[in-house]
Amino acid sequence: MTTGPAPAAVGVIGGGRMGAGIAQVFATLGSRVHLVERDPDVAAAARQRVADGLTKSAGRGTLNSHPEEVLGRLTAVSDAGALPSDVDLVVEAIPERADLKIAVLTEAEKTVSASTVLATNTSSLSISELGSALKRPERFLGMHFFNPVPASQLVEVIKTSETANAVTHRVRGWVRALGKSDIVVRDSPGFATSRLGVLLGLEAIRMLEDGVADADAIDNAMELGYRHPMGPLRSTDLVGLDVRLAIAEHLHTTLGERFAPPRLLRDKVARGELGRKTGRGFHDWS
Ligand code: NAI
Repeated sequence: MTTGPAPAAVGVIGGGRMGAGIAQVFATLGSRVHLVERDPDVAAAARQRVADGLTKSAGRGTLNSHPEEVLGRLTAVSDAGALPSDVDLVVEAIPERADLKIAVLTEAEKTVSASTVLATNTSSLSISELGSALKRPERFLGMHFFNPVPASQLVEVIKTSETANAVTHRVRGWVRALGKSDIVVRDSPGFATSRLGVLLGLEAIRMLEDGVADADAIDNAMELGYRHPMGPLRSTDLVGLDVRLAIAEHLHTTLGERFAPPRLLRDKVARGELGRKTGRGFHDWS
């Protein structure tokens, strides 16, 4: 598998944490990026997040061009139906709800060309179900990026029984062009990464509930004992407790009792303790 050419133009739907990161890496690669966000304040915040990310990369010496030049390739779009037709790839990164994702993907499909690849960044939802309403499901797959997108090494490529091999091949080339590695997995609940990562995180929360150890000790157990780069509770804080809860609920329905969300996770989400983004989750980030 070799590195492919950069896509000339990419659409990214959703300007949250993941969407902004995905926009940043493709703009850095040289693609024109059209970032779809309905809320103008969130769109401005996403642009700022990309600008901050680029400044950080420049500071580390990992950016070959000027941040302003990269930012110049980023355009804001107010809805998926207004994407230009000539984008090579559209990546959807809106909240983890099948109905919302299906709505924006079908809207995008109406405006883009027949050769555009459509992808979802879902962490857990069925790719086949999300693609079921599309006219060209053979051009659709999962492209699961990790947080923070610019620093993470992996993109999990999830293909359905309908995804064309040529589409998977093209997407893998783009992942390599981004300087990242890919794994290809069959569409199944939680794929390879979320299924294992979420299970570990949920068990760590149950251990906290049982008073086995405190959050630092549980994370250190895996970081120092098993050489995981980040413990399961710090990782849950990074992903966002709300995002993790949504994934756990879905995996509970599809894979069974072992994914039942613990009470403590629900309570923290209800209190607005969502992890790093709110300053508090299982650890204090303030
Ligand atoms: P987020 O909540 O930070 O961002 C979602 C964004 O989508 C928001 O800015 C919202 O305004 C926007 N949005 C909602 N409806 C929209 C619409 N119809 N059109 C355009 N924009 C719309 O969520 P986050 O964390 O970026 O997650 C997005 C997706 O990525 C989810 O499917 C999640 O499961 C997945 N994911 C999240 C990871 C994480 O660590 N947070 C890691 C890997 C995947």
